[in-house]
Amino acid sequence: MNFDLTEEQLMIQESARDFAQAEIAPTSVQRDISAEFPYDIIKKLGELGFMGMMVSPENGGAGLDTISYVLAMIEMSKVDASVGVIMSVNNSLVCHGLEKYGTDYIKQTYLTPLAKGEKLGAFALSEPEAGSDATKQKTMADKDGDYYILNGMKNWITNGINADYYLVMATTDKAKGHHGISTFLIEKGTPGFGHGKKEDKLGIRSSDTCSLTFENCRVPKENLIWDEGKGFSFAMNTLNGGRIGIAAQALGIAEASLQASVKYSKERKAFGNTISNFQAIQFKIADMAVKIDAAKLLTFKAAALKDSEKKYYKEAAMAKLYSSKIAVEAALEAIQIHGGYGYVREYLVERYLRDAKITEIYEGTSEIQKMVISRALLDEK
Ligand code: CAA
Repeated sequence: MNFDLTEEQLMIQESARDFAQAEIAPTSVQRDISAEFPYDIIKKLGELGFMGMMVSPENGGAGLDTISYVLAMIEMSKVDASVGVIMSVNNSLVCHGLEKYGTDYIKQTYLTPLAKGEKLGAFALSEPEAGSDATKQKTMADKDGDYYILNGMKNWITNGINADYYLVMATTDKAKGHHGISTFLIEKGTPGFGHGKKEDKLGIRSSDTCSLTFENCRVPKENLIWDEGKGFSFAMNTLNGGRIGIAAQALGIAEASLQASVKYSKERKAFGNTISNFQAIQFKIADMAVKIDAAKLLTFKAAALKDSEKKYYKEAAMAKLYSSKIAVEAALEAIQIHGGYGYVREYLVERYLRDAKITEIYEGTSEIQKMVISRALLDEK
């Protein structure tokens, strides 16, 4: 077991940190208020290779490992978790799946611009009546010659308004249940394809989330990803990687909460002393640090298993379950340490709590992660 990062990984971490501080931090508070999408930041992230980090160079990516991706996600999310989720969806849910399961045509036409950050991707699995219960896809895709015709609706789609390309799960054969679900790549502007209003969210406010609608939307058969009936496997396999990204996003928020707590506790005076001298505060800081380190180890373990092409779905679920839980806890403790100042926008910690909460919900709720983990253990021979 080697806990050292390679020189390349350290370099990625440093450049992500520098970029986040210089380019993201100055506007993060304002974008949280205005809920404005960070167009310029995403464009620059693309130019630097952060939007297709794990995609091979021949497909336009940076050719890095999952550990590097985790490090970059932590640094970005430490400063702005909205940027974190936009980046995570493009990297893990869209690019990774297309590189693994797409045809040469799909890779050349769609993956390359996505990996270079010239285009943005979205992943559309959830529906109004199929969230956690994702096998119950009502969106239909009926074959018609060289096309599929899609009808239905998707919900809670990150990058839903600003994406160029959408991976959409739809049922091609109802009789086969989840083995009758397929995945399609749909371009923005395809007739019959529309989106709803930007959701007014509690946190990650500058990322965009909306519903999608499909009314007799014709998609060429070349845009079927993998095979007919493989759509649910595609979604689950991609989400396993996505869960590592969200674990890293949660870790970034937790680390930001800890850093803010340490800083504030050394500045704030009470009872004639800085509050960092009180055991009540010291114990909170110690608990936060231990939990963050444990969550980090789980996340790096899942990433390392993925990089060595071993089974990692249980570990990814564990990493997401624990990192998201401790992100909420760390943000709550940071608010407690800041007292009244923690409850107002002047300090950042109230945003950390609002941003942290979603990590327990999307890409599979904490309850779903527990299902995945317990089933993996109970099914082990
Ligand atoms: N990895 C690979 N395969 C998996 C899997 C995983 N983590 N979890 C389930 N599967 C497979 C099962 O092995 C099974 O395959 P077979 O039928 O071929 O054997 C199939 O999926 C169905 O699984 P179950 O029989 O266990 O079905 P279920 O309905 O009881 O449970 C579920 C399925 C695990 C609950 C699944 O529906 C699920 O993960 N739900 C959560 C969905 C989710 O994460 N949504 C996130 C939306 S995307 C998002 O949030 C992105 C964003 O914008 C930020």
